[in-house]
This record gives sequence, structure tokens and C-alpha cells, in this order.
Amino acid sequence: MAIKPIQIVPDPVLRKIAEPVEIITDETKQMLDDMAQTMYDAPGIGLAGPQIGALKRLIVMDCSRDDEADELWQMINPEITHFSEETALLEEGCLSIPGHNAEVTRPAWVELRFLDIKGEEQQIKAEGLLAACVQHEIDHLNGVLFIDHISKLKRNIIWRKVLKESRQS
Ligand code: NI
Repeated sequence: MAIKPIQIVPDPVLRKIAEPVEIITDETKQMLDDMAQTMYDAPGIGLAGPQIGALKRLIVMDCSRDDEADELWQMINPEITHFSEETALLEEGCLSIPGHNAEVTRPAWVELRFLDIKGEEQQIKAEGLLAACVQHEIDHLNGVLFIDHISKLKRNIIWRKVLKESRQS
């Protein structure tokens, strides 16, 4: 396994659409393991392919609390099949927008299907933090960032700081 460099805004790769994985190979599994290691190292609770420059529909997540056992999800071609009407407001951050958080309103729970690392189709209902996290990560596969879900005013404040920081580094 290897820790990969995380792409930071305004890197254009973060705005691209990731391609579905047609055939699950050893390389796919290696990438999912590298993504998990990169996420834990950061540390973060989710990471999507484009964030390590890989435009593949792959995500990893672990939303367990510090006092709980790890619960690693590695998903291939995840797809939300149902969004709840009920919404929830949660503070989100992103490893690609370091140092900036904002409250985001999203459907409170979702149903999704995906292929696991063995290539088997799984269907789950995600609630709470996992629901927000999986929506955030699938957004990354479509070139969408959490700041796209907040008010234009708040987004512009974050964006101005991001651009200033990127010029300084
Ligand atoms: Ni993110």
C-alpha cells in the first residue's frame, strides 16, 4: 500500500467527471487500498478517486467514531438509488479544501448500490454521518465539491481564501 498525494483546490482534476470501473483488476484493488491508507493518514473520513488524481468511480470512507472499531467502506461505481425527503444539516470539510468547513444541508438518508472490493453488488441504506459522507464522496466523482452546496456568499469567502493560499504555496 502507498500513501498518495491529495489534490487540492483549485486543481482542475477535482472538477472532472470520473469514469465507471468496467473490470475490477488487481490495480483497482490496489488503488482502493492506497486510497484507504491515504485517507487514514490524512486523517479524513472519506476520499474519492479524483482526489488522488484517479478519474475512476472509486470511494473509500470510514465514519466510525474514535471510540468505535474501524468501519472501512471501499466502493466501486457507487450509485444513490433513493434520497430521503427529510434533510439534515451537518458540518463538512474536505481533504481537497483543507482548513475550511461549512454546514451543508443534504437528504438525511440515502439508499445506494455499489460493487465491493470483491466485485459483489451491495445495497445499503446510509444514515447520519455516513449518509452525508457518501453523498459528499459521490459528488467528487461528478466534479462537485461541498462548497457548491452552500450560499454563494459563503462559497465566495472560502474560495477567495483558497486562491490566496494557493498563490502563497
Ligand atoms: Ni471531499
